[in-house]
Amino acid sequence: MSARHFLSLKDCTPDELVGLIRRGMELKGLRNSGVLFEPLKNRVLGMIFEKASTRTRLSFEAGMIQLGGQAIFLSPRDTQLGRGEPISDSAIVMSRMLDAVMIRTFAHSTLTEFAANSRVPVINGLSDDLHPCQLLADMQTFHEQRGSIVGKTAAWIGDGNNMCNSYIEAAIQFDFKLHVACPQGYEPNAALLAEAGERVKIFRDPREAVAGVHLVSTDVWASMGQEEEIAERHKLFAPYQVNRALLDAADDNVLFLHCLPAHRGEEISVDLLDDPRSAAWDQAENRLHAQKALLEFLVEPAYHHA
Ligand code: CP
Ligand code: NVA
Repeated sequence: MSARHFLSLKDCTPDELVGLIRRGMELKGLRNSGVLFEPLKNRVLGMIFEKASTRTRLSFEAGMIQLGGQAIFLSPRDTQLGRGEPISDSAIVMSRMLDAVMIRTFAHSTLTEFAANSRVPVINGLSDDLHPCQLLADMQTFHEQRGSIVGKTAAWIGDGNNMCNSYIEAAIQFDFKLHVACPQGYEPNAALLAEAGERVKIFRDPREAVAGVHLVSTDVWASMGQEEEIAERHKLFAPYQVNRALLDAADDNVLFLHCLPAHRGEEISVDLLDDPRSAAWDQAENRLHAQKALLEFLVEPAYHHA
């Protein structure tokens, strides 16, 4: 199958990723000035959600409509996927009717298996391993608010989860350094760490990890699918809360990002999203703009390069 997929930030070159961020900013400008731009007229995105979502569903659905197309929400509960139809068969059939497919799933192999059998682009809307679309929005937000991230240092505080893994890929692709502060046993993917080499350093003490950094980010202590581990994780992660005092130990011009949803009083202090150093609301909005750039790039590249 020859379609171009976006399962990980590694599916694009660094230049393409920077191009997507730039284009996301342009499309944001068009929308904010009320210009109609509908390059995806008659195009249809299928969206398979095996997990809950607010931002990912809304940003893809609204994005497709704004670009002149449509999006169809597919829940495994209401499709034959939930009754055991093989992923490969589903991919063959769905990709004959759709122009792109976004999947939010548990096992990353669901995405790779679907993509291997799909005629059309497949987009990772979050797996247990990675959340690349979120990183497009995070990188756009940093770029808009602080300029280029090249050569800067970011800190990831808390669980070495899907978001953390995508931050490692972002560090490699966008050329910045990353400090990860996590409890022992909750490190990010070992192969990614090995690939990143000196670029990524693991810390146990969050204060050491944030010293002098330009970007701080964190995420929930228990991701979707880990609900049974919540009590144990809360004990272990308590020292990893990001609060104003922790941000004070970073660079004076630090930016705080959180992919949301947040648990105020847990991984962040109750007041952190209201701190002037937090850009979490702009970051959430940028899911829309960055993914419109991604959809255009994958479905109608002629416009993207125009
Ligand atoms: N950040 C993010 O992916 O949010 P949703 O789970 O609401 O889609
Ligand atoms: N790590 C979280 C991110 C949610 C957007 C999860 O996987 O649930």
